[in-house]
Amino acid sequence: MKFFVDTADVADIAELAATGLLDGVTTNPSLIHKSGRPFLAVVKEICGIVDGPVSAEVVATDYENMLREADIVRKLADNVCVKLPLTMDGLKACRKLTSEGTMVNVTLCFSATQALLAAKAGATFISPFVGRHDDVGFNGMDLIEDIRLIYDNYDFTTEILVASVRHPVHVLEAAKIGADVMTAPPAVMRALAKHPLTDRGLEQFLADWAKTGETIG
Ligand code: G3P
Repeated sequence: MKFFVDTADVADIAELAATGLLDGVTTNPSLIHKSGRPFLAVVKEICGIVDGPVSAEVVATDYENMLREADIVRKLADNVCVKLPLTMDGLKACRKLTSEGTMVNVTLCFSATQALLAAKAGATFISPFVGRHDDVGFNGMDLIEDIRLIYDNYDFTTEILVASVRHPVHVLEAAKIGADVMTAPPAVMRALAKHPLTDRGLEQFLADWAKTGETIG
């Protein structure tokens, strides 16, 4: 399972990339706004920090302007993945861009039939939003299960990128279903490594080690 981080904060990205556990980055217009930095500059900088795909979202809603913006974005670096909304114009632009060899992440997916369309449009990644599904009383993981089943039925190569991840249980469930990728905020990425028994056990080991009076090396 690939781990992407969902942020435009370069300090967080650099810190997580240094662990060797980070396979890519996803951003969206809200995260760019939160970073307080110019869109193209921050995307270019992120692309220099990680080797894997960096999703950067266009904001045009019509086909022609989506392609115009995508052309600017994809020239920033080889690892840019153009993010397009799941609309008919977005799907049309997806087909065009992927046929030219550009990676595309189709975002704002809330149904399995939308995900089917994205796969048919040749999307590199489909981003179903599990947390926002949970927010309105549906189980976001049911959507991931349905997409996994459909993609496997037809051997679609579009990767399922579980987005809108809010906590470690989302990551656990996505991994059990066999999602290809998950993208989570930095705090959730860090929370994956945490366990109170790990902390307590380490504390005990260090206390006992101190009593030995030994040092290593
Ligand atoms: O980047 C898309 C997605 O991960 C957004 O998550 O928490 O704003 O629903 P959230």
